[in-house]
Order: sequence, then structure tokens, then C-alpha cells
Amino acid sequence: GGRRVTRPAGTDSSVALLTEGYLYGRNRFERAGGDLFETRLMLRPATVVYGADAARMFYDGDRFGRERAMPTSVMHLLQDEGSVQSLTGAAHRRRKSLFVELLMDDAAIADVQSVYRNEWARAVRTWTGEVVLHDELVRLLTRVALRWVGIAPSNVDVDRLSGDLIAMINGAGSFGPANWAARARRRNAERWARDVIAADRRESERLRLSGRKSSPADVRQTPLRRLANARGDDDRPLPLEVAAVELLNVLRPTVAVARFIVFGAHAMNRWPGWRRRLRTGATPEQDALLLTHEVRRCYPFFPVIGGTATRSFEWRDRVFEPGDWVLLDLYATNHDERIWGDSTVFRPDRFRDWDGDPFTLVPQGAGDAASGHRCPGERATVAIMETAMLELARLDYYLPEQDLSIALNRFPALPHSGFLIGLLPPAR
Ligand code: HEM
Repeated sequence: GGRRVTRPAGTDSSVALLTEGYLYGRNRFERAGGDLFETRLMLRPATVVYGADAARMFYDGDRFGRERAMPTSVMHLLQDEGSVQSLTGAAHRRRKSLFVELLMDDAAIADVQSVYRNEWARAVRTWTGEVVLHDELVRLLTRVALRWVGIAPSNVDVDRLSGDLIAMINGAGSFGPANWAARARRRNAERWARDVIAADRRESERLRLSGRKSSPADVRQTPLRRLANARGDDDRPLPLEVAAVELLNVLRPTVAVARFIVFGAHAMNRWPGWRRRLRTGATPEQDALLLTHEVRRCYPFFPVIGGTATRSFEWRDRVFEPGDWVLLDLYATNHDERIWGDSTVFRPDRFRDWDGDPFTLVPQGAGDAASGHRCPGERATVAIMETAMLELARLDYYLPEQDLSIALNRFPALPHSGFLIGLLPPAR
């Protein structure tokens, strides 16, 4: 039998986490000489783990729920009570199947890519002089997300909505007043989302009462319509607040892809050979995918994901009990020497012969998206990034003087300048 975990007495590592940021886990795994260490965060004992075996333990076999797994300051901005992430077991699987259907099928992926191309062309036409790429992408991706789910951007105050969504993303790592301000913006966005869902439900009802048969074009209902009509475990429509939260759970993270695109721009600047390969190489699509994977592996996004044990089990000779708090270090797993070799070297070609093991490349969680908590938006994220990398590589721009450094102790991370680009005047 394993032994009960012993906790370090007294010391709390919250401050170390804030100052060391993404490197907090890596620094300690090295010292512990293994893939697990015990600590205390926000006064609560926690076990931090990393690597492919740890990811399998964490994501396979329903060992963890997400209740009390993240600080409420984060939870209230990135997910919410009643959302898919807060559910466990059969209820989770049922709600999750909705996301899998809406976001992961081939048609949805092709759709988001074509909408992105379209919106990119529209946005680029308006850029003159110097623009902050991250800011522009946030607005652009808000429009992409709206159109993707079936909402016309012309019916929405896009600047306000994109401001609400990015405030939630940026505020997730903050505490106190900054966090409260972001929560206020969340309430704005939720009010808007409830109105959108309610209006769509009225429209469905109107169609039903008018007895109109759906035309063939209606057969693939918009994701918004399917979300608005989705049913819960009691076979009744989801409560309005829950459907609204789930709508935001599609829009907000789509906007967060702006960070990954900026990281891609950063990479193409630092390793210009990749920009050339995408611009004029023989296999640009294939190279865009390699680049996308390496950017997602190397650059800092979600540092860790927390889970609360739902049952007892043993791992690494230790006994875990229901309620125990475990953090899987995603950043450390993506830089695990045992998996990646030369893990700190940026080398997209490493993905040429990658076997696709679902427990190794984990920026968006691990395991199977349909049965566990792995991100259902990962395929879309990859698809958007591939498209964005190709478009960006083809754009002529220069980099004005700026601070491109990425602080690893700030969550969520971003180059300091937001990536300022200068547009060349159009050729005559
Ligand atoms: C879950 C990261 C994009 C929707 C997750 C999880 C991670 C993650 C780490 C796992 C949480 C867990 O295990 O509890 C990211 C990153 C993205 C991204 C880094 C890049 C921007 C997206 C997109 C969508 C999306 C584009 C939707 C279009 C979701 C949802 C969940 C989730 C709904 C909850 C799934 C569940 O609990 O079963 N994401 N994600 N994400 N993601 Fe993403």
C-alpha cells in the first residue's frame, strides 16, 4: 500500500508562484528529482505533478473534478458555476457532447478558417501606419467568433463585447480591484449573451408555431441555435444563465487565440526562416502546422490546470483521497526533457515524426476531449493558427522599436508591446 502524502509544514508558496510564474513548477521538479512535489498554495495543501504519466493519471479515469480546483478569482472569469467545466461524470459528458458536436466536426473547422480569412482581409485593409497586433486580433477574432456561431457582427457592439471578453482573459491572473473590474465586465457580457439566447429561442418558437418546414439550408442549424435549444439532464432547455455562460465559453476562448497568433508572429520574427518557409516555401500548409504545434508547445499560456480528487487512488506510491488538490503543470509537461529532448530549443520540425500521443503536447489539456475535460476548442485553435500564420507570413510589415520580451511571471503572458507592426505604404 502507498503512504499518505506528508505535507510540508507552515510554508506557503503563493508568493513564489507569483514571482516565478510559469517556471515555478519546473524549478521545483528539478530540485525534487521527480515528477511530483508537495506544496501549499493559498493556504491549501497541493500536489504538483508533470509529464506524460502524470497527465494520464490526471485526465484518464474520472479521478478529478474541477470543483474548488481553481481560485474563484480565476473561475469567475474563465468559466463559471454551471458551465461544462464545473460538471463531473455523466452530467459533464452529456454537456461536453454539445461542444464536441458544435466545435470539432470538419464543417465547423472549415467554417472558422474561411471566416478568419475573410475577416483578416477586411481588417488588413483598414490598417495604416503602426498597429498593435494583439489589439487588432482581439477585435478581429470577436467578429470571427460571432460569425462562426451564427451571430451577425453588424447586430452587435463589437468594440464593447471584445473589450468585455479581453478584460476577462487579462483579468484572470489578477486579484483585488483589477479582478473585480473584470468581473463587472463579465456581468455585461453575460447580460448580452442572455439576451442573444432569449431572442434566438423566441425566433425558434416563432418558426415552430408558423409550422414552416426547414429548408435544406436550415438543416445545419447555427451553433447558436443548437446551443439555445440544447437540453439538460432533466431534458428541459438549459437555464438561460447556463446557455449564456456556454455561449461565452465559445466566444471568449476564441478571442484568446489572439495570444497564440501573437506568439506565432514573435516566433516568425525570431526565426525568420520559418516566415520564409510559409511565404515562399514548397509546403506552406504543412509547415504552418509544424510551426503552430511548436508555438503551442513552447510559449506560455495556461501554466497549470487544477483538479480535486473525486475518489481514492494510488499513484507514484502515494495515496490520494477525495478532496485532495492536484495541479498538473502543463507548461512543465510541454518542456519535459523526457518527452521532447532539447525541450528549450524551438524546433517545429520535431513534429514531423510526432506520434500524436494525447498526453504529451498539452497546452489545452490532455487525454480525450469527448470523455474528459480536454479543450474542445483545440482543433479550432490549431486551424485558426495555421490560417493566421500563413496570412501573417504573406503580409509586408516592419517591426518598430519596441519591447518584445515576454515576462514569465505574468499570467496570462504576452510580449510586452503587444507586438507592434508597421505597415508599408501600398506599392504604386
Ligand atoms: C478547456 C486551454 C481555446 C473552449 C480547456 C482546458 C485548457 C484550455 C487547458 C482544459 C481545462 C481542464 O482540464 O479543466 C485553451 C487554450 C486555448 C483554448 C490555451 C487557446 C486560446 C479554446 C477555444 C474554445 C475553448 C477556441 C472554444 C471555441 C473550451 C471549453 C473548455 C476548455 C468549453 C471546458 C472543457 C471541459 O471542461 O470539458 N481549454 N483553450 N477553448 N476550452 Fe479551451
